[in-house]
Amino acid sequence: MDKVKLLLVCGSPRPKARSATYAGLMAAMEGAQSIDGVEVELVELFGRKIAPCIHCNKCLRDDSDRCTVFHDDMDELYDKFFQADGIIIGCPVYDMNVTAQLAQFYSRFRSSWKLSVDNTSFFQYKVGAGIVVGGTRNGGQEAVLRSIHNLFSTHGINICSCGGGIYGGAMLWNPGDGSTTMDDPIGIDNCRTLGRKVAQVAKALKAGHEMV
Ligand SMILES: Cc1cc2nc3c(=O)[nH]c(=O)nc-3n(C[C@H](O)[C@H](O)[C@H](O)COP(=O)(O)O)c2cc1C
Repeated sequence: MDKVKLLLVCGSPRPKARSATYAGLMAAMEGAQSIDGVEVELVELFGRKIAPCIHCNKCLRDDSDRCTVFHDDMDELYDKFFQADGIIIGCPVYDMNVTAQLAQFYSRFRSSWKLSVDNTSFFQYKVGAGIVVGGTRNGGQEAVLRSIHNLFSTHGINICSCGGGIYGGAMLWNPGDGSTTMDDPIGIDNCRTLGRKVAQVAKALKAGHEMV
């Protein structure tokens, strides 16, 4: 079997040195890399130029699986997303919602459902999970996790829950104004556990896909 590819996306607008979300994703990467045959790539939305969808429908008229109007940093992210066997999206909570950067990223997948229309199994053997960080203990982490799951649902990507006290995904608490280093060892450990599970599920689905 070819290597299992995991894509990790960090939706923070801050660079990795200052992002608690990035720290959570790094722990997930560590967990995922403990599984043989898995390669992981972590990309940041920080610093990337991603225009929001303007609903012009050109992608649909062009019968394209991606936006054909804006050529920006989404160009390479589409291929990474489509080629991944597993995807973990990490995002800070902003006003009990996702960041503008992640919302713009989501919006650019408008015509990607076309891939599963042309080939019903395109997304069906992929798995997705979420990691969320809020500055308040109960600041909207579950709402943001739900939003991440919704992106996966629109494509028919299987959502990976985690059970064992982690439930729908890793939800972290970074108290204060976000200018200090996050101290949430349980949350970080949950990210590691989630990363390992996503890798195991992605590997099992990829093997299963080859048998069908
Ligand atoms: C504009 C803005 C809105 C925020 N809204 C919330 C919120 O609704 N709930 C919450 O728990 N934290 C909120 N926070 C705090 C961030 O979620 C927290 O600092 C987080 O660690 C930032 O992620 P990062 O370190 O990966 O950039 C907000 C921060 C900003 C800048």
